[in-house]
Amino acid sequence: MVKKLKGRDFLAIGDFTAKELGFLLTTSIKLKKKGNSNALKNKTIALLFEKPSLRTRVSFDVAMHNLGGHSVYLSQAEVGLNKRESTADIARTLSRYVDGIVLRTYAQKTLVDLAEAADVPVINALSDEEHPCQALGDLLTIREHKGKIRGVHIAFIGDGHNVASSLAEGSVLCGADFTIASPREHQLPKSVVARIKASAEKSGGTFQSAHSIEEAVKNADVVYTDVWTSMGQTESESRKKAFAGYAVTKKLMGIAKRNAIFMHALPAHRGEEVTDEVIDGPQSVVFDQAENRLHAQKAVLLLLLK
Ligand code: CP
Repeated sequence: MVKKLKGRDFLAIGDFTAKELGFLLTTSIKLKKKGNSNALKNKTIALLFEKPSLRTRVSFDVAMHNLGGHSVYLSQAEVGLNKRESTADIARTLSRYVDGIVLRTYAQKTLVDLAEAADVPVINALSDEEHPCQALGDLLTIREHKGKIRGVHIAFIGDGHNVASSLAEGSVLCGADFTIASPREHQLPKSVVARIKASAEKSGGTFQSAHSIEEAVKNADVVYTDVWTSMGQTESESRKKAFAGYAVTKKLMGIAKRNAIFMHALPAHRGEEVTDEVIDGPQSVVFDQAENRLHAQKAVLLLLLK
């Protein structure tokens, strides 16, 4: 039995149980088939972004429009989160105008502070620790291409950062086998690994850290990578050195299963973490992922706001 999701926040993928994630994915599939509706007529969300975005901003905007609602985009230059005005006062003010707040920010604490002071649901559109909407869209993509998530072997090559963290926890909650290969100094934090392993134990998924990228992708159904230097990180030269050898190439894809798919959250730094040959090749599903952000976020908006 899935508890009502109305009024809840979505700050981290682990905010939802395995059953609730399954319900969100089933709803995403239904909404993708159904097309537009007026389910969120007269509802408005604020899109508050401290960092640039293409996919997240446009897909949330279009999702609200397709559900009969509206969105208002607010940049950091206008709002001055924690500069012009405190996070709590912004939350209290926006709660008088809108039915939900979507925030892209740096610290997870900013999301927690905003959610504590807001009277409306707050949705994480990417923080330094989590990218839960990305993970939900990715799980939808895996389910579409592999017909299931439970028992699917997902290999993540690269940074143990926000995208990896949310995807790993979401995957094991849905019963997948998740393996990650990261340079020693860019591994998932120990506390995050402990949380993911606890989720895996409850849900029947597995989590492993591999010693090499070849070990990680052996027999993989999904090969996933992300940029070596994310937004807000400045040390790109030292990162390039640390991640040298962590590129997804055609040779690496050859170690995975023959029908493995290649995934990337985008934007990609072609020639760094992935070659053109792979991202433009027949195994790549990166634009299905981008599209599925829309359908997954429609489900999130519908279930939290309606
Ligand atoms: N993947 C992702 O979040 O893309 P944007 O940064 O363009 O929103």
